[in-house]
Amino acid sequence: MGTKIIGTGVALPEKVLTNFDLEKMVDTSDEWITTRTGIKERRIAENETVTELATKAAQQALSNAGIDSKELDLIILATLTPEKRFPSTACLVQAQLGAERVYAFDISAACSGFIYALDVADSFIKSGKANKVLVIGAEKLSEAVDWTDRSTCVLFGDGAGAVVVERSEDESDILASVMYSEGSLEELLYADKCGYIRMKGRELFRFAVRAMEEACREALRRAGVSPEEISLVVPHQANVRIINALAEKLGIPQEKVYVNIHRYGNTSAASIPIALHEAISEGRIKRGDLILLTAMGGGLTWGAMLLRY
Ligand code: UT7
Repeated sequence: MGTKIIGTGVALPEKVLTNFDLEKMVDTSDEWITTRTGIKERRIAENETVTELATKAAQQALSNAGIDSKELDLIILATLTPEKRFPSTACLVQAQLGAERVYAFDISAACSGFIYALDVADSFIKSGKANKVLVIGAEKLSEAVDWTDRSTCVLFGDGAGAVVVERSEDESDILASVMYSEGSLEELLYADKCGYIRMKGRELFRFAVRAMEEACREALRRAGVSPEEISLVVPHQANVRIINALAEKLGIPQEKVYVNIHRYGNTSAASIPIALHEAISEGRIKRGDLILLTAMGGGLTWGAMLLRY
C-alpha cells in the first residue's frame, strides 16, 4: 500500500511586484536582488485572503484529481500566515470547499510546513485512518513583511499550492521522509512581536545548505536510493544560491533541480507545492519518477522527502 499524488493545483495573485518596483520602496537594486537571491519578481495578494488562495489551489487540485471535496477524509494546511488565530485556516477552507465531516487542522512549521504536512498525510493513509487527503501550503507573506526592511522585504511573496493524495496499490509512494526541528536556533528566523519576519540571513544561509543536504542524504539512505537515480529535486525556493549549493553538494546536476524563485520569490509553505504543480504541468515529472523534496525554515525546521510519483 502506498501514498499517491493524484492531483495538484496552485493559486497565484495577479499583482506582480518586480525588483524595479522595490527599488522605489527601499534602498535596493534589481542587480543586488537578482545576484544574491535569483528573485526577479513576486506576487502580492491585494484583494485575496490566505483562505481564498488556499481554496482556489485546493479546487484546482481536486479537479485535477477528478474527485469531489465530499470524498476527502482529512485537510492539512501549512502556513505561517493563518487567517485568524483560530479557527484554523484548514477549517475555513473546509467550509469554502463544502467538504463534509473531515478532520481539518493547520501545521505551523514555516517553510518546511508543506513537507511536514505531506508526511502527516502519509502517516494517516498508511495507518488506515484516511483514504483521500488534501494537503495545502498557503501564504500571505506580504502581511508578515516589514516593507521598510530591505533585508527581508525583497525576499517574500504570496501564493498557495495544493496536492491531493490517496491510498494506492501501484508503485507510487512516499518512500522515505525525515523531518527535524531545532528551536534553540529560533533567533535566526522568527516573527517579532508585531508579527514581522526577522532573519539573520547569512547564518541561515549556511545552516540551510548543511541541514537540507543532511536530510536529503538521510532520506536517500533510508530508501536505498542514490542521488543519480533522482529524476528531479523540488526544493523550497528560498535563494537560488542555496539551491545551487545544495545540488552541488549532493552531486545532482542543476538541470535536475526545479527552480521558479525568479517568478515568485520565497512563498514559504507554498513554495514546494507550487513548484511541484508547475514541474508536473510542464512534463518535468512523469509517473514512476523519483522526486526529492527538501525544505528548511523558521523553527528552525527542516527535512526531506523522497517519493515515487
Ligand atoms: O525560507 C527560509 C529560509 N531562508 C533562508 O534560508 C534565507 C537564507 N539567507 C539568504 O538567502 C541570504 O543570506 C540573503 C539573501 C538574505 C542575504 O544575502 P547575503 O549574500 O547573505 O547578504 P548579507 O546579508 O551578507 O548582506 C550583504 C550586504 C550588507 O551590506 P554590508 O554590511 O556588506 O555593507 C547588507 O546590508 O547587502 C546589504 N543588503 C542589501 N543591499 C541591497 C541587505 N539587503 C539588501 C538589499 N539591497 N535588499
